[in-house]
Amino acid sequence: MAVTKSDLGFVLILSCLLILTSGQSSQGHFNKHVALFIFGDSLFDPGNNNYINTTPDFQTNFWPNGESYFNPPSGRFSDGRLIPDFIAEFARLPLIPAYLDPHDNEFLYGANFASGGSGVLVETNAGVVVDMRTHLQYFANLEKHYRHILGDAKDDQLLSDAVYLFSCGGNDYQIFLSNNETSLHHEQYVEMVIGNMSDVFKVRPVPML
Ligand SMILES: *[C@@H]1O[C@H](CO)[C@@H](O)[C@H](O)[C@H]1NC(C)=O
Ligand SMILES: *[C@@H]1O[C@H](CO)[C@@H](O)[C@H](O)[C@H]1NC(C)=O
Repeated sequence: MAVTKSDLGFVLILSCLLILTSGQSSQGHFNKHVALFIFGDSLFDPGNNNYINTTPDFQTNFWPNGESYFNPPSGRFSDGRLIPDFIAEFARLPLIPAYLDPHDNEFLYGANFASGGSGVLVETNAGVVVDMRTHLQYFANLEKHYRHILGDAKDDQLLSDAVYLFSCGGNDYQIFLSNNETSLHHEQYVEMVIGNMSDVFKVRPVPML
């Protein structure tokens, strides 16, 4: 993955948390494929930031981004595919589309809610990214859509069989490290990030609409 200078801040691999979880289900399969739901920051964003009101620092839908794989550039913070793309390919799924892409609204194989620059905390790059609480609300809206077209039983099965991928925390810590005016001790800040992350994993979100 090539990284441009303006992306450098986002790609704090060391402080980034990669979490792979899978729902458990003893029931049969909804269909041959398991859905993939993706949440997080620029490491996983397939182009959601193309569709929000933001600044050029948080968008990559221009040359030479994507040059090794996408034409035109998809909005990935990379010269090619990202980790979720390779996981999707390995699972024999199509590339999982950006949830905010207006051209794709079926999401039969899952959806990607990730937004470059976003953090676990709503304050992280607030106003120019989609924060993780909003990812959850979008996910709840999508669940409502599945429930509508599939019915309760198949919706439950789809969600419990699905694989959930998270990449988060890196931008929160980057903001903290570059903030010379905070009164918080780093341990307090880490507690806040971990606390909010735990909430995200535990809370069953409610649709916005
Ligand atoms: C914090 O950093 C900014 C930008 O680098 C600088 O202008 C400001 O003086 C710094 N504040 C303190 C309290 O060091
Ligand atoms: C979550 O983050 C907010 C700041 O965005 C903070 O006030 C709150 O205490 C955190 N929650 C937990 C459970 O740590």
